[in-house]
Amino acid sequence: MKRNKAEYLVFHSVESMWKFMGKKWKEISLAAIRENGFFSVALSGGKTPIGLYQYLASLKGLPWIKTHIFLVDERFVPATDTDSNYRMIRETFLNRISPASENIHPVSTDEPSLQESARRYEEELRAFFELQPGGLPHFDMILLGLGEDGHTASLFPGTKALKERNHLAAPVMLETALHDRITLTLPVINNAGNVFFLVKGASKAEVLKKLIDEKDRTLPASMVRPEKGRLFFLMDKEAGSKLKEVQ
Ligand code: 6PG
Repeated sequence: MKRNKAEYLVFHSVESMWKFMGKKWKEISLAAIRENGFFSVALSGGKTPIGLYQYLASLKGLPWIKTHIFLVDERFVPATDTDSNYRMIRETFLNRISPASENIHPVSTDEPSLQESARRYEEELRAFFELQPGGLPHFDMILLGLGEDGHTASLFPGTKALKERNHLAAPVMLETALHDRITLTLPVINNAGNVFFLVKGASKAEVLKKLIDEKDRTLPASMVRPEKGRLFFLMDKEAGSKLKEVQ
């Protein structure tokens, strides 16, 4: 089966990028609810999406009751830690829309080990999506960030998690980062209906050039290629400033 082509969109301001994302969120969530009765989305941490989460929380008419929110990845720290992605998403987004607790699916970092935390998250995914052995969750939407080294989610260059084909969630141990992490794996990301990379700022211009113009297949982000879903790259003009193809 032929994959959909990636769609590249450059925005003149971050505000217009969030406005576009708000429209997409509405369109995709309402269609998913019409079709399956609920909308499932996995959100990234990091700094880039903070403004988006605040914007989404201010929108009227989004179907929060039928929306289920998961995390793309998490740092192995308590949920109260300032480096916790769940904490950031709570403070910028969830506290403002007050969803029912059963609609929120954080990664439990209250476990005795990183491996146990990944195992519990996988269990949560299996139970929610009612998966048979070997089955994959189908997220309606996944929002991803992009690191300057080409990582996305917590899929970092050279890590074992990049090669994971059997598990839905994987532990990631990093020598270079402050915290170990838990991440959704590539088979899960590539089984989603809609995957959005959200990229802003001049510091990401070089990696976007490698990824899009130079087609550097060693970058973890280049391994995100949804089997049947759609793939979008949303970027502000600073992030897109070194690209030839999409100007
Ligand atoms: C995280 C992520 C990670 C992030 C990129 C980009 O937990 O940090 O989910 O993949 O999206 O590192 O981070 P910034 O948005 O902060 O540049």
